[in-house]
Amino acid sequence: MNIGIIGAGRIGGGIAGQLGGAGHAIRLSFSRDAEKLAQLAQDIGPRASVGTPAEAVQFGEVVVISVPWSELPNALEQAGALEGKTVIDTTNQFGPPPLPPEGETAAHFNASRMPGARYTKSFNTLTSAFQASAAGREGERRVVQWLCGDDQEAKRIVARLIDDAGFVAVDVGGTMDCSLMEAPRRPGAVYGEEYRLADAQAVLESLRSGQPIPPTPRYEE
Ligand SMILES: NC(=O)c1ccc[n+]([C@@H]2O[C@H](COP(=O)([O-])OP(=O)(O)OC[C@H]3O[C@@H](n4cnc5c(N)ncnc54)[C@H](OP(=O)(O)O)[C@@H]3O)[C@@H](O)[C@H]2O)c1
Repeated sequence: MNIGIIGAGRIGGGIAGQLGGAGHAIRLSFSRDAEKLAQLAQDIGPRASVGTPAEAVQFGEVVVISVPWSELPNALEQAGALEGKTVIDTTNQFGPPPLPPEGETAAHFNASRMPGARYTKSFNTLTSAFQASAAGREGERRVVQWLCGDDQEAKRIVARLIDDAGFVAVDVGGTMDCSLMEAPRRPGAVYGEEYRLADAQAVLESLRSGQPIPPTPRYEE
């Protein structure tokens, strides 16, 4: 697929490398340092290129938005219309207003800032260093990327990309059902914790039956 990246830093750059490595075409954008972006494109390979955020949107069937919370208004303005694009939002709400009001998830809040986009949120719960080191694990050790969104087809597309990136997708539901995958790290949430598929499925079971989620799993490696 063609993937546009807005914000190719630790998380966005990592996703770009993982998806580029899996054979997807990548267009990187939104750096203050054009040379750094060009170098990253060169490192990813011949199917990676650089452009403006608007060009990344135009190029991408899927657009990854991975910028600091404080930069999101600027990034969205530069991106332009996201109508019809499948979006993967990796952001966490650490930063200045605008912030989601009490009771609204950041995912729901951000989706409403991207009218017409086929919005999903993922890749936001684990540190960039951990994501870089854990990508590509196989079998039971494969690491979960939690996923939410209100568009089922967009989530199917993103789940396949999550697999291509070397993880396994676990869908928690819609943008208003996803507070457990949002910051901050806290008891009763999955944000900030490594999950593997069996334990993530146990979380979904608990949610379905209205029970507290099981204790956070701990893995040997
Ligand atoms: N880091 C993590 O462990 C982690 C984990 C999960 C989720 N997240 C979330 O994912 C999003 C991206 O995080 P990240 O750690 O990948 O960020 P990052 O490494 O700082 O990358 C931010 C990207 O935005 C670009 N950018 C353009 N203008 C900027 C400006 N004025 N100030 C700062 N950056 C600017 C940066 O480009 P240049 O620096 O090249 O200019 C870079 O490409 C955040 O919302 C974060 O909360 C982060």
